[in-house]
Amino acid sequence: MSAPATERLTVAIGDHEYALHLGAGGLVGELGRLWAPRAAGTGVLLAHDGNVADLARRAAAALRAEGLDVSEVAVEPGERSKSLSEVERLCRAAASAGLRRDDAIVAVGGGVVGDLVGYVAASYQRGVRLVHVPTTLLAMVDSAIGGKTGVDLPEGKNYVGAIWQPELVLMDVGALETLSARELACGFAEVVKYGLLSGEELFSVVERWPELPGPGDELIGLIRRCVEHKLDVVAQDERDLGIRASLNLGHTIGHGIEAAGGYDLYHHGEAISLGLLAALRIAEHVCGLPGQWRERTVVVLERHGLPTRLSDTIATDEITAAMGRDKKADASSLNMVLLDAPGSIRLRQNPPRDLILDAIEELRS
Ligand SMILES: NC(=O)c1ccc[n+]([C@@H]2O[C@H](COP(=O)([O-])OP(=O)(O)OC[C@H]3O[C@@H](n4cnc5c(N)ncnc54)[C@H](O)[C@@H]3O)[C@@H](O)[C@H]2O)c1
Ligand SMILES: [Zn+2]
Repeated sequence: MSAPATERLTVAIGDHEYALHLGAGGLVGELGRLWAPRAAGTGVLLAHDGNVADLARRAAAALRAEGLDVSEVAVEPGERSKSLSEVERLCRAAASAGLRRDDAIVAVGGGVVGDLVGYVAASYQRGVRLVHVPTTLLAMVDSAIGGKTGVDLPEGKNYVGAIWQPELVLMDVGALETLSARELACGFAEVVKYGLLSGEELFSVVERWPELPGPGDELIGLIRRCVEHKLDVVAQDERDLGIRASLNLGHTIGHGIEAAGGYDLYHHGEAISLGLLAALRIAEHVCGLPGQWRERTVVVLERHGLPTRLSDTIATDEITAAMGRDKKADASSLNMVLLDAPGSIRLRQNPPRDLILDAIEELRS
């Protein structure tokens, strides 16, 4: 017997409880039916990434079929849309659609649209209801589920934001069929991160994952395991004051690499691929993590087309300078997530600077 094509999780974070539906192609057409019990009479602004217009049309049709009044607005693809001017544009679209306090905004897209539209939902009329329909692997396993929303300033990424939980999340892995191989691989870097954070069992599932993930029941199971890991951590620390920092494994140096490359040379997941390897190297020195874990991680990252060697066009001091500017590093300390084994996490402040420099240099060999 094959696994059921649709799964439903009930997510509890703080006072919030929401349903998360995860299924194979066609689930987006069920959006109206699945949300209907809570959505009767709701006015809806559906904001979507310009590259998923077809999917958004199907989502809007599914909502209209349940009698909901839906207005639609497209968002230009790309990180530049995570801006305060887009927040204003979408808030005004909500106003002209007549949205009121008890109405809702639906985000259909990857992390960019999810973060932007989530922040609009948190802000418009001091907060309206939010539904996420993530369309990238990264958004499914990461950005659509923890409640973090926000936009960028010229001074830094995610400098303006809010924690705002959705009331429904619908993940249709059929949406991934149109996603580029590069973006799929980027999402997979986060999946590898969850394997390392969760423990040997999930790591070995990830390690055996045959190829770039395509749609299907097995992929649903893998996404569910990542989602469950993240939600378990977020439920313990919604406001990111403690254990939630563990989800940043690979991100301290990864963010530095991403920024030093101008957010262009490496996409986020590619920078995280390199950041994970650097963090594992430091963990070998500081925590005694056996070297096999980094070697096995290199193999799985490479098999999915992710970089494991750092480009010589980026200098190490550009990376460390960017790490210093990362808002996750407070003024006096640099926080790193390390492991002494998969699933055994150590949060470490200020690991020796030489170890960081060596770990970055080793990415070049
Ligand atoms: N809120 C959080 O907790 C959190 C966590 C991680 C990342 N993020 C944020 O997420 C963003 C990155 O998200 P992302 O990687 O999903 O990038 P993205 O939203 O930019 O999507 C990547 C590209 O894929 C396109 N796309 C999206 N879905 C598609 C589909 N189904 N078919 C074809 N093309 C599609 C988009 O137009 C875009 O060009 C960053 O801004 C990051 O800061 C937020
Ligand atoms: Zn990430």
